[in-house]
Amino acid sequence: MKRGEMLAVALALLLAAGSGVLAEPLKFVDCGSKDGNIVEVNVTPCPRQPCLLHKGVSYTVNVTFSSKIDSQGSKAKVYGEMLHVDIPFPLEQPDGCKSGIKCPIQKGHSYSYLNKLPVKSEYPSVKLVVMWELYDDQDGMLFCWKIPVEITS
Ligand SMILES: *[C@@H]1O[C@H](CO)[C@@H](O)[C@H](O)[C@H]1NC(C)=O
Repeated sequence: MKRGEMLAVALALLLAAGSGVLAEPLKFVDCGSKDGNIVEVNVTPCPRQPCLLHKGVSYTVNVTFSSKIDSQGSKAKVYGEMLHVDIPFPLEQPDGCKSGIKCPIQKGHSYSYLNKLPVKSEYPSVKLVVMWELYDDQDGMLFCWKIPVEITS
């Protein structure tokens, strides 16, 4: 490649990353997914980690996982962890079957769970860990992941 072409490619990649077009899988901590396997966690836009969450912005969460069990339903719970305290985060739509998952969930199948993470303007500017869980019918976790984030104005 010529120098000019290389610059053009680099610029295009930078632009794509900046606008969130490139959905880079995030690094996460698995916090006990027992009834499922996490394939990929995406929060958009989050061009680099830890994710900077701006107040007044709604973020898209896309979790791809495979299930090890059959389950009619699924229910999500989200927490913000600060100083080892879990603060429940109310989800507008806790029903996983209304969040991109086609239920009933079948053993061996893969699903993409989709939801929104609205960051309200009244939230404080803090660093915290977001923990996202999805429970099946047997109260087992299809997935549990954690990522550090920073809320900013
Ligand atoms: C969610 O992520 C998976 C895996 O990267 C991808 O195949 C799927 O298209 C994504 N869904 C949406 C709505 O972005």
